[in-house]
Amino acid sequence: MTMDLFTRWLEALEERHMRALSFQAVRRSVQALSSLYIERRNRIGQGAALDGEGKRAAFALYFAPLHFLLVREIVMAVGADRLSIPALLDLGCGTGVAGAAWASTMSLSPRVSGVDRHPWAVTEARWTYGVFGLDSSAKTVDINIFKAPDRTAVVAAFILNELPEEARERWRHSMLRTAERGHPVLVVEPIAKKFSPWWDDWAEAFTAAGGRSDEWRFYPELPDRLALMDKATGLNHRELTGRSLWLPAPGAQ
Ligand SMILES: C[S@@+](CC[C@H](N)C(=O)[O-])C[C@H]1O[C@@H](n2cnc3c(N)ncnc32)[C@H](O)[C@@H]1O
Repeated sequence: MTMDLFTRWLEALEERHMRALSFQAVRRSVQALSSLYIERRNRIGQGAALDGEGKRAAFALYFAPLHFLLVREIVMAVGADRLSIPALLDLGCGTGVAGAAWASTMSLSPRVSGVDRHPWAVTEARWTYGVFGLDSSAKTVDINIFKAPDRTAVVAAFILNELPEEARERWRHSMLRTAERGHPVLVVEPIAKKFSPWWDDWAEAFTAAGGRSDEWRFYPELPDRLALMDKATGLNHRELTGRSLWLPAPGAQ
């Protein structure tokens, strides 16, 4: 993917979400969303993260592009961009950035299917995949009960921690099976361990199955728009951090 497409997407995002909102309103929403994720995580399960125009804009314009940049770096670092994948499931897709980041770095993009329980997110994901020119679809489903289709790779970015324990466990088994059947799996979460006590068990299971577990620190040059918001909110993303579990299908490395 060229950087141009990413830049064009950022410009289109701004046009799409800032028509009715000022920079200051988005800035306040970015701060509110950040505190929701850091201090009041219990309300996220109730859908509080995307419950108003300001927070949706903050998510779409700021957090989602940061997720895109992080996932794209991880994809390239583990070599996921060099595989050939016919289909990719973007689990808890939000605005579709993880699927778009992986698929758009591949020379032959897979068909991307986004699933999210929030109808607004699903509409945004369709739009994002479209901007990146991907063969794609997105639908509204609750992944606590949804089952992964058979022949697809899976990316799960910033979603597993939002699931109840039982559903998360079910996905762990499902993902291990997915890789066994020849389709790679990538999980991305924030580094802060206190938010995901389940991580070590997952890391053990993924590495035992031939995968890897990593912590990452990247220093990408933030596009002006993101750098400006970063400065105005006092949130520092000069360093992009995250951790991942990567389970390539056997023989696919
Ligand atoms: C923090 S966002 C991450 C979105 C995207 N993957 C990214 O990296 O930007 C979490 C997403 O998971 C969705 N979600 C949470 N619980 C869900 C569930 N049970 N079923 C489907 N989607 C869910 C939320 O609606 C939200 O869009």
